[in-house]
Order: sequence, then structure tokens, then C-alpha cells
Amino acid sequence: MKKQAFAALLALSSVGAWADGQVNIICSVQAEWCNMIATVYARTTGVKVNLSMKGSGEALAQLIAEKENPKTDVWFGGTGDPHLQAAEQGLSLEYKSPSLSQLHAWAQQQAQQSGFKTVGIYSGPLGFGYNTELIAKKKLAVPKSWADLLNPALKGEVQVANPASSGTAYTMVATLVQLMGEDKAFEYLKQLHKNVGQYSRSGTGPIKAVARGESVVSISFVHDGPGEKINGFPVETITPSEGTGAEIGSMSIIKGARNLDNAKKFYEWALTPAAQEMAAAAKQFQLPSNKGAKNDPRIPDFKKIKFINYDYAKYGASAERRRLIAKWEKDVNSLPR
Ligand code: F6P
Repeated sequence: MKKQAFAALLALSSVGAWADGQVNIICSVQAEWCNMIATVYARTTGVKVNLSMKGSGEALAQLIAEKENPKTDVWFGGTGDPHLQAAEQGLSLEYKSPSLSQLHAWAQQQAQQSGFKTVGIYSGPLGFGYNTELIAKKKLAVPKSWADLLNPALKGEVQVANPASSGTAYTMVATLVQLMGEDKAFEYLKQLHKNVGQYSRSGTGPIKAVARGESVVSISFVHDGPGEKINGFPVETITPSEGTGAEIGSMSIIKGARNLDNAKKFYEWALTPAAQEMAAAAKQFQLPSNKGAKNDPRIPDFKKIKFINYDYAKYGASAERRRLIAKWEKDVNSLPR
């Protein structure tokens, strides 16, 4: 067959294969989970899924940039604060799912406080990841508290992401501000800066670096630890004794979505127990928001963790988020190490 005719046939067959249309998704969880939901959803519904993977802060930046001409239908995952900011800025669409009552209270609350422009799909606590072999080799103690991360022996050995691009790192800044008060929290961040080897773009970068022995400790969501362990890396996680925050990983339909019907269908599917259980199948251990989803035993036990009373509305507000990130850039990130 001539090359051109073959290409035409290929194009035709792909149109036929996606007779049920398409949905454009920004996915802010880890690649394995994004790919799994995209493949399973496409195979079971006949809808083509176009995936773009972006950290929470980067996803929000993209949605702001394409506001006049949205190319995204659904934003799946990522920390809740930038989803609330998207809601406030009119980037996401009000949609009241009939499945809301099946969700945990924290997921419903996320929907309510955004005017039903986002919804909680999972939750997970912030803590530390550490490399068990490196810590033993360097004769260091396991850090059990925020204060322990300031130990001068950890100089250059702590990794955390940049709060401008990463929801994980913004959750850290907001958690510390709520735990210590703003002045003390920024003093703490300046001290911590001396021990930070690198600020990565993505929130999962630091625990991956720790897993691979490039750093001793990371500030990470603790649900990102077991996946590295399954992959054979010497990683453990711990939550700080002073108290910590948690994310409400969220999902939003984008205002002006070109494939609105398919966006709503995907959204409903993503709230089902079966879809939510795929996280653990993809080695990711956030707590699912659907009360009917089976909880894998490797999901962190929330009852054993000391939590602060995280104010999601306050720290998800655009002005507050922007202000804290700008302050971190100016007062912390610009300092020499
Ligand atoms: O996918 C893992 C994860 O920790 C999610 O639980 C979280 O919502 C997301 O990463 C945050 O990623 P980032 O910090 O890059 O915005």
C-alpha cells in the first residue's frame, strides 16, 4: 500500500475508534495513576483521553493562560488549594455531582466552599520521607519533628519542592504558618533553607531523590512513600510530632470545556469506588474520597497522625496563596545557602 493511502486509512480508523469523542485532562497525580485511568477509561467507554501531566501550581498557571480559549476539560488531582483558587478566579465550572453524598465529609466540604466548582477526590498527610540506608550510613537520627530538620548535620541533605510550582510545597508553607504563626514560620523556612540541597519543580521529586539515595530527607506527602518502597527503594515516612497538614486532592471541570458532556461523564466515573481504587493499583496510597472505595492497608492511618486544623478556605484563597508564595520567593529563596 502506498504511504499516503496507509496514512489516510490510519487516520480514518482512529476517527472510528474514538466515535464517542474525546476528553482533555490535566492530570496532577503521578504518571502511573494518570496513565492507568486514561487507558481504562478510554478502553471501557470508547472516549479518547488526551492527557497532559502537570504539578498543581503549573496546572493552575496553564488554566489561567488559556482562560480565554480553554483547551482543557477536566483537571484531575493535585492539591486542593489551587483548585479553590481556580474556582475563585472563574476558571472552573459549577457542577453538583449526584454522587456527592457518597463522599467523605472533607471532600463534600471542598465542593461546598468552592460553590461546587471543585470536589475532593483523595486526601493525604504531609510529612517526611527518609532513606533508611543513608541515614544509618551517615549516623544520623531519624527526623521526628519540624525542629529536627534544622539539625546542621542535615546541611544540603533535605529536599523539598518549590511552592510556586508544587502544591505539596505550598501545603508545607501554609501548614507551618498555621502551626507557628507567620513570623516564626518564615524564620523557620529561612533556617531550613540552609539545609535544603535543592527545590524541585514537582512535589514528588524530593521523595524520589531520597529513594535513589541523592538526599537523606524529603518533605513530602507520606502516601508517596509506599510506592517507592514497592519499587525496592529503602524509604520510610514519618509525620512531625508538632503536628502537620493534609491535602484534599481535588478535581474540577473547566469553564468553557469544549467536551462538556464527556467532561461530566469522566468526572462521575472518577468519583466511583472502582475508579478511585485504581490509585493503589498504580502504587499510590492517598485516602480515596468515596466512602465505598476499599482502603489499601498501605494508606496512612489518619487516626495515628497529629493534624493541625487546616483552614482550606483561607489558604486556598488567591490573594493569600499568591502573597505567601511571593514572600517565600523574596525572603527565603533569594537567600544564599
Ligand atoms: O501524585 C502525588 C501527589 O503527592 C498528590 O497526592 C498531590 O496532589 C500531588 O502529588 C501534588 O503534586 P505537586 O506538589 O507537584 O503539585
